[in-house]
This record gives sequence, C-alpha cells and structure tokens, in this order.
Amino acid sequence: MITLKNINKLYDLGEVKVNALKGINLTINRGDYVSIMGPSGSGKSTLMHIMGILDTPSSGQYLLEDYDITALPDKELARIRNKHFGFIFQSFNLFPELSALENVMLPLGYAGVTYGKRKARAKELLDEVGLEHRMQHLPTMMSGGEQQRVAVARALANDPDLILADEPTGNLPSDRGHEIMDILEKLNKNGVTIAMVTHSPDQGLRAKRIINIKDGLLHSDVDNKGGKSV
Ligand SMILES: Nc1ncnc2c1ncn2[C@@H]1O[C@H](COP(=O)(O)OP(=O)(O)OP(=O)(O)O)[C@@H](O)[C@H]1O
Ligand SMILES: [Mg+2]
Repeated sequence: MITLKNINKLYDLGEVKVNALKGINLTINRGDYVSIMGPSGSGKSTLMHIMGILDTPSSGQYLLEDYDITALPDKELARIRNKHFGFIFQSFNLFPELSALENVMLPLGYAGVTYGKRKARAKELLDEVGLEHRMQHLPTMMSGGEQQRVAVARALANDPDLILADEPTGNLPSDRGHEIMDILEKLNKNGVTIAMVTHSPDQGLRAKRIINIKDGLLHSDVDNKGGKSV
C-alpha cells in the first residue's frame, strides 16, 4: 500500500540540526498489523507523521499504491490523507468544545458527507466502540479510555485503509489500554491495516510484524508469525 524509499528527515533549527530519519526504506502492505518500536527520540513519531502525510520528508520518495505522491501539492495531500488514513494519538487530540458525536462527525464533514448521514455514521461508530451512552459528552466529561475510543471512532469515520496510531495506549491504565488494543485488532481482522508505535513490549508482540527504529535507521523488520495475541 505504502512504499517509502530512502526517506530522510532533517529538522533544521539553524545552529542545531537533527537528522531524525536517515534513509528509511519500508513497505506497508495491505492487511499488515505492524508495531513500530525503538528508544525515545529514535524517529518513530517522525516516521508516523511522514507515513500519514502529516509531514513531508526532506528527501526520498513516497509511493501510495505505486503512485508517487511525494511532490503533490498540499491540498491534494490533505485529500489523500482524509480519504485513506485514520490517526490515533497518545493524547487523544479531540476538540474540547465538541461533543463525542461532533468530534466523530468532523472528518465526515471534510469529506463532504451530508449532515444527516454524518450523524448516523458517527452514532454507528460510537456504538461500535461501546460509547452509545456518551454521544453528547464533551471530552473533559469522559475518562481517558473513553476519549481514546472516541478518537478511534473518529479515525474510522471515512473507512480508512490504514490506521496510524502513535502510542495510543500511552496515557491509559493497562486495562483500558487493552480495550483499545482489542478494538484495533478486531479492525485488523476486518481488513484495516494498522501501524502502531508502542513502548510496551507486550503490545508490540501482539502485532503481526515488528519494526525497530534506532537512531533514525530501520534496525530490524521481523515477521511475528501472525501475532502472539489471543
Ligand atoms: N519539530 C521538530 N523540530 C526539531 N527536532 C525534532 C522535531 N520533532 C522531533 N525532533 C527530533 O527528532 C528526533 C526524533 O523525534 P521523534 O519524535 O520522531 O522520536 P520518537 O521515536 O517518536 O520518540 P518518543 O518515543 O520519545 O516519542 C528527536 O531527536 C527529536 O528531538
Ligand atoms: Mg514519539
């Protein structure tokens, strides 16, 4: 689905330059469930941002379904991002002034879906993550696990091909974290491709493929025999 060719990312802060990614070659296949691991500062989030086209590489090539999108204009990249990718972040990143329902409706609005359909789809998604009783709650009125489930529902709004999750359980107690992992795994069984950054070896081992990043380099990329979970 995605092929990254010799991706470099240099953060240029004038006197200080950070070579965050140093020639990453990586293919994410449809149906993959990949965990991305590595020490703090090794470049995992930078890689996720580039994979999700939230950021652009300093050099290298990005192929989406064999189509080189590296040099497309921002507007076109935003359209691709909204259509193909769903994002889940460690800090939930919900809009604080919007209800759970409105947060999930938002990406559907960007995709031009009518109000009635947006609402129906958002309700269905919140139902799927077990939040049918929290539709009108603002993020501050919800627990961390509930907020992250809203974020998962929002990530699913436009039926993404790929979910990019950057430490999605990092701010949650372990039992709530497992709930999120269970949801992600169910999605993967239903055909959604998952790439997830995690610091937890337990969670990493649940993935079907484990990638290790060290100091901006792809250190290892191993098949985990379909994951060791359940
Ligand atoms: N916007 C930025 N400007 C300058 N340097 C940055 C920026 N973002 C990240 N970096 C640097 O790039 C390197 C990689 O950062 P990145 O956030 O990708 O690491 P990470 O592997 O996700 O770490 P963590 O596990 O702590 O989240 C780090 O040295 C970081 O300081
Ligand atoms: Mg990070």
